[in-house]
Amino acid sequence: MGKSKALVIVGNGEIAEMAFEYFTHDSDYEVAAFSIGQEYITADTLMGRPVAPLDAVAGSYPPDRYDAFVAIGDLQLNRVRRRQVEATKAMGYRLASYVSSRAFVWRDVAIGENCFILEHNVLQPFTSVGDNVTLWSGNHIGHRSVIEDDVFMASHVVVSGFCRLGRSSFFGVNAAMGPHVSVGADNYIGMGAVLTASTEPDGIYQGNPAERRSVSAKRFCRVRE
Ligand SMILES: CC(C)(COP(=O)(O)OP(=O)(O)OC[C@H]1O[C@@H](n2cnc3c(N)ncnc32)[C@H](O)[C@@H]1OP(=O)(O)O)[C@@H](O)C(=O)NCCC(=O)NCCS
Repeated sequence: MGKSKALVIVGNGEIAEMAFEYFTHDSDYEVAAFSIGQEYITADTLMGRPVAPLDAVAGSYPPDRYDAFVAIGDLQLNRVRRRQVEATKAMGYRLASYVSSRAFVWRDVAIGENCFILEHNVLQPFTSVGDNVTLWSGNHIGHRSVIEDDVFMASHVVVSGFCRLGRSSFFGVNAAMGPHVSVGADNYIGMGAVLTASTEPDGIYQGNPAERRSVSAKRFCRVRE
């Protein structure tokens, strides 16, 4: 049966190929093409779909007929994905979000644009997810917790109730947050970190209990504003 909506995936790396799989086999979207800056094009096709240069994509795949999804990881603490989201919207595209049919999302949880929420995530009542957020597989987002824009969360992170996760932060595998913890913007939370208290912006936190490292997270991730 034909699908009701058509999609252009912006990107040509691993996240783009993962997005192709998930949108193709678990969404209403038919993926029509990939798009990336001309200088990054290494082949005419990817996953059997054409790869169009970004400066020409709107001609072949006009924004009134195609939505877009920006499939980029946590590079530069999510700044590369954020910049491409802005550029793609400026071209007139509406940004799609993918939410796995195998995620548990409470009935009225708000989820923004360009989100990528994979299998076995749990979003309890009164939680919310901003724009451009990636939740890889198997995270628990406890009641009344808020995930701000541009967050990237790896897998099996536990967010207790009443937490706030600051903009652009990264969460490594198996990190855990106690209740009422606020994570500052631009944090890099290491794998297995146990956050018992709120954090300052632009910090790297690791260990149990988590401690702040002396280096700036933005510097560690070579952020270019
Ligand atoms: C926290 C992190 C960024 C540190 O990176 P790094 O600075 O390159 O780490 P290094 O390997 O140089 O280790 C520096 C020190 O921190 C320790 N360390 C590293 N990661 C740690 C972690 N997650 N928890 C506790 N200690 C850690 C190392 O043992 C080392 O200690 P030492 O100086 O006493 O020998 C990284 O280990 C991490 O957790 N990344 C997230 C990975 C992840 O979850 N990816 C998701 C896949 S999508």
